[in-house]
Amino acid sequence: MKILITGAGGMVGRALVAHASAQGDEVFAHERATLDITQAQAVREVFARERPEAVVNCAAWTDVDGCELNPERALLINAEAVEILAAESRLAGASFVTISTDYVFDGRKEGFYTQRDDPAPESAYGIAKLQGERRAQRASARTVVVRTGWIFGVGGRNFLATVVERARRGEHLKAISDAYGTPTYAPHLAARLRELAARDLPGTFHVVNGGEGTSFLEFAREAARAAGVEDVEIESVSMDSLSRPAPRPRNSRLRCLLSEAIGFAPLPDWREALRDFAKVEGEG
Ligand SMILES: NC(=O)c1ccc[n+]([C@@H]2O[C@H](COP(=O)([O-])OP(=O)(O)OC[C@H]3O[C@@H](n4cnc5c(N)ncnc54)[C@H](OP(=O)(O)O)[C@@H]3O)[C@@H](O)[C@H]2O)c1
Repeated sequence: MKILITGAGGMVGRALVAHASAQGDEVFAHERATLDITQAQAVREVFARERPEAVVNCAAWTDVDGCELNPERALLINAEAVEILAAESRLAGASFVTISTDYVFDGRKEGFYTQRDDPAPESAYGIAKLQGERRAQRASARTVVVRTGWIFGVGGRNFLATVVERARRGEHLKAISDAYGTPTYAPHLAARLRELAARDLPGTFHVVNGGEGTSFLEFAREAARAAGVEDVEIESVSMDSLSRPAPRPRNSRLRCLLSEAIGFAPLPDWREALRDFAKVEGEG
């Protein structure tokens, strides 16, 4: 498959480039330096040159608090540019997969969010990502939206790497105990993104690792354990005690109504994924 990947320098982008290359795809990987997705003319030129059969957009402005302080920029990168990519994919005859977020939900529901739940984002990041979903779906009928959350993996500015590093140094750690999500391992997500690009079945999918989900506190404890850092003290804090510019959903656990119905195997439990990640980190 000829697959064009934007945001190839990010945590998910890197994992997808590695996975698609290993599958024997012809991969056109673009970091921001070679393709800024907000530049319509540059996008047009790249598509005309590379003629992809599938496009996976891993580029986004993922700084949730940054988006809150600059909502116009959030809309430019996370919505307008996604529409540009979808429209160019349609013209090129390519399927289009774009990644969205659990932050499109307000977090007030008990239990898991499925595709039957109405999005109601409360942050500028979530609002822009939801617009990105909708604008892409309008621009190309072959759009696949993949909502995911709490991603961990190599190369991310992620919560987990920080926890493990600090725990090893014996530093004092704090984690939120009253916000819940479904962790997702970047390589597992990457494999599913490619499967969806190849299947070319439009729709909205929720892609997360299996299991019941967790709190940041439990996630941090489990990460420390997986990394072999025992007896680590992690102070429990409430989400409200942190004054951050952007609101976050208190519960953003996702579950998919479609994946298994179309024959996709469930992704492994997040605890197992965490142990895989710890092994990779340990080797690195
Ligand atoms: N991380 C999570 O927990 C999480 C949860 C739910 C959903 N998601 C979604 O998952 C996707 C991948 O996230 P990630 O964790 O891999 O984020 P990431 O590591 O921040 O990667 C995003 C990449 O997009 C690039 N980018 C930003 N603006 C761009 C532009 N205008 N043109 C081209 N590239 C641009 C960034 O480059 P620079 O570094 O140069 O800015 C970065 O390499 C995003 O859609 C995100 O919204 C993430």
